[in-house]
Order: sequence, then C-alpha cells, then structure tokens
Amino acid sequence: MGDEKNERVIAIGSDHAGFRIKEIYKEELTRRGYDMLDMGTDSEESCDYPDFAQAVAEAVSVGDASKGVLVCGTGAGMAMAANKVPGVRAAVCNDPYTAQYCRLHNDANVLTLGARVVDEDEALRILGLFLDAGFEGGRHSARVEKIGEIERKYTKER
Ligand code: RB5
Repeated sequence: MGDEKNERVIAIGSDHAGFRIKEIYKEELTRRGYDMLDMGTDSEESCDYPDFAQAVAEAVSVGDASKGVLVCGTGAGMAMAANKVPGVRAAVCNDPYTAQYCRLHNDANVLTLGARVVDEDEALRILGLFLDAGFEGGRHSARVEKIGEIERKYTKER
C-alpha cells in the first residue's frame, strides 16, 4: 500500500449500471493527468459488481494503484465487496460532502458511486472532491488505525 511510484495511478471499475459514468470518469481522470487501470466492465451488458470491486480493491491493496473508483447502481454493493479486501477503505460517495470528508477524516482509498442516484455533473463534482482532498491526520489517524485493528483481528481469526 501507498507505493509512491503509483501515486498518480487510479484503478477504476464498474458493473453494467455504472459503465456510462465509468467512461466519463476515465475522460476526467485523463484530463487531470492520472494513469488508469481499467478493470472493466466493458459494456452495459448485465454483470456482477463484486467481480469488479474485487479487482479494483486488490489493485489498491497491493499498491498497483493509490486509489480506486467503483461505479454501480447505488455504490453500496461495490463498497460492501471492496471493503472485504485488506487495507481497503471504500466509501459510498453519493454527495459532495461525503466525497470530501471521507478523504479528510477517514483516509478513504476507494470511492464508490451510485450511477442511478447522482447525475453526471454531480458525479464529476464528487470525483474531483475525492481526488483533491487529502487525509488530515491528527486526531483522525488513531480512528483510522482502529479500523485497521478490527480488520487485523478478524483476518487472524479466519
Ligand atoms: C445492478 O442492477 C445493481 O444491483 C448494482 O449496480 C448495484 O446497485 C449494487 O449495489
């Protein structure tokens, strides 16, 4: 995790419901100078969101990408699946405030978005806030560390 050479690499994925926004996000990420790992899907044909959540989350977990972006219908299924991968802190960001504060306070490393919940302009605003905000650290560091402790506890018990 946190491999500096991949700081400007974003892993991105969607299911069929999020495909259109994923393609719009890719254009925006290119415009902002990011490199991308597109984990699919490649069309609006029906598919299973956990497959893409896992691929993006693993890329973030091993450090091939500094952050991940996942789009499905609600953002919820993607977050549930991505958060099963160690080291991943995926946050459903269907509003700008959450997009900004999940970075500032929670050090979220995966943004999940509901393409059936927000329109295109809002989706772009959300992505921009997520990318531009940095973790504040300070009192939030110990709280984020506690999330890691929970993860380690249950990973050990498996
Ligand atoms: C697909 O119809 C929908 O269930 C999926 O995109 C997502 O919203 C799941 O969380």
